Amino acid sequence: MSKPYAAPPKLNRERRFPDNMQAAHALTLKAKRGARGNRTGKGYALPAFNVTTYQGIDSAFTAYETLGSSGLLAFSNSALKHFGSGDPLLGLEQVSAYVERKAARSSVQVATHLDHGDYIGESGRKVVQGAVHLLTSVMADNSTDHAAKQPTPLEDNIGYTREVVNMAHPVGVSVEGELGVLAGEEDEDTKSDFSTYTRPEDLAQFLKETGVLMLAPTIGTMHGPNKGKPGHKVKLNIPLAHELLKVANSINDEIIFVAHGASTRYEEVVSYAVDQLGKLGSGNGEMIQAWKDFVGTDWDQIQGLIGAGFCKINTDTENRQTFLAALLGAVTKNAAKIDIRWYDNQMWNAVTASYIKKLIMAGNHGIWHEPKIDVDKFVFDLNNT
Ligand code: 13P
Repeated sequence: MSKPYAAPPKLNRERRFPDNMQAAHALTLKAKRGARGNRTGKGYALPAFNVTTYQGIDSAFTAYETLGSSGLLAFSNSALKHFGSGDPLLGLEQVSAYVERKAARSSVQVATHLDHGDYIGESGRKVVQGAVHLLTSVMADNSTDHAAKQPTPLEDNIGYTREVVNMAHPVGVSVEGELGVLAGEEDEDTKSDFSTYTRPEDLAQFLKETGVLMLAPTIGTMHGPNKGKPGHKVKLNIPLAHELLKVANSINDEIIFVAHGASTRYEEVVSYAVDQLGKLGSGNGEMIQAWKDFVGTDWDQIQGLIGAGFCKINTDTENRQTFLAALLGAVTKNAAKIDIRWYDNQMWNAVTASYIKKLIMAGNHGIWHEPKIDVDKFVFDLNNT
């Protein structure tokens, strides 16, 4: 990997995306500044919802439009494969066209983002190139050498990330780098059973040499449903997050931090799922225990990160859990209902409510217009979705 000597290209802010679409950096920078309408107040965050089906995209748009939120739809490589029946490039073409049409009719502004995947090999690079053409933001997912099960050497991570910045910034597509290794499983190709913290001494070099404006440092979060010991609270390294923010702001205060593994455990979802499994029969003890053992990142910890400049918070697992809980509920409510649309509505109305809950928690409402509901009175209740 050759050392990138020349200054990295700046993000082209003149780029005009299709109607109501913006680079993820533009929307998250607005959040860091606390900008809503023509007012500036307290900072907020954009949950990046990992969507894997068209109904998921529809649900996210419904939630954004209900609240007047800034939206961020994330697609991992395995999600793109799912959309494209095995072909991530076909998936990219399909989802980008679908989102563009939805956005053109929307009351809010959204960004589309390429999330995790193994993008180092030839086929992975094609996915990143395709995403630079078709999405508004991409992840340069290079911090972990998954084959060797070790962190990518800093120089190599810088080199790979810089290649993506060279391709994306001139056309206005923002790039999210990653520094440090996050444990857990997000994409089928990108699981890790170990983690490392981001080292402040590496951060300045990484930011200066890559030119990224969005960065996922590792401060103790984990992907997936088991983020720690059951019954124990996950404790993030918030002091490290502030130390990293100082370094980043001293280089460019437009740099946005990204929290991966930001899913919360919603007690109401866990107890609803456990109830449904109980109703479904006495042989479900192991699954009930698995649900009870799920560990999320508590919201006070994520709030601590938002206060340290983390304006993009990646949330996938909690919405998968809501979907599955609602599916179990649909079966216990009426397993003789021969109507796919009814089942679809049961699950997706629940996921929409889960999205609304997180957007309200993140303070991301009333950005593009006033919310259509009273956010203070919103109740997330799977019995009523
Ligand atoms: P969770 O597994 O906590 O939902 O995190 C998702 C994520 O970080 C996607 O990049």
